[in-house]
Amino acid sequence: MKKVLLSILRDKSTDIKKFREIAKDLAYILAGEAGDLLEKEKININTPIDNAIGIKFKNDIVIVPILRAALSLLPPFLDFFKYATVGFLGLRRDEKTAIANLYYKNLPEIKKTDDVIILDPMIATGGSGIKAIEILKEIGVLEEKIIFVAVICSKIGVDEIKIRFPKVKLIYVEQDEKLNSTKFIVPGLGDFGDRFFGTI
Ligand code: PRP
Ligand code: URA
Repeated sequence: MKKVLLSILRDKSTDIKKFREIAKDLAYILAGEAGDLLEKEKININTPIDNAIGIKFKNDIVIVPILRAALSLLPPFLDFFKYATVGFLGLRRDEKTAIANLYYKNLPEIKKTDDVIILDPMIATGGSGIKAIEILKEIGVLEEKIIFVAVICSKIGVDEIKIRFPKVKLIYVEQDEKLNSTKFIVPGLGDFGDRFFGTI
């Protein structure tokens, strides 16, 4: 299902309305996968018939979308993780150097036990993702408590994140082989933020 949806996002003839709808559908699947990776604990439940053993998420959850493109993924994640707190990191790549600059930071208090889900649909050079993880580590978040959710990543970007932060769990739909001269993912889907927000 994920790859069917991603194929629609990749298609340059997909218009903004459809792009938004499909990005949302895909985000629900990715939110489910993130939920599968979170630590659970057993709970006792009284059903209308008998007692049952169930599970619930063990820890509080913090979601950190990297502005701007990850705002597209946030609503489905909040639908699933209804009590999550949300922190924002604004990172924008310089058009010439592709180096990500931090322009906004607004993080809630994050406890040592919290699970942190970073959202960013695209991992190209990996620079934005690496900066986001570094910022979270600086305030005491443990690597093993981080799940990074993307839609498309490049091999270079994902390898870089894995080498620097081996304990961070990565979820993505597909990995593309190359970056072009302007550090866009090839074949990719173009500029996710521009296509979602209509700023092309
Ligand atoms: C895009 C994308 C990622 C980043 C990935 O954001 O949403 O955050 O580039 O590239 P990297 O791995 O090389 O850092 P962009 O800077 O275009 O900003 P936007 O989300 O506001 O469109
Ligand atoms: N950001 C995007 O949105 N797409 C790319 O291919 C690279 C960075």
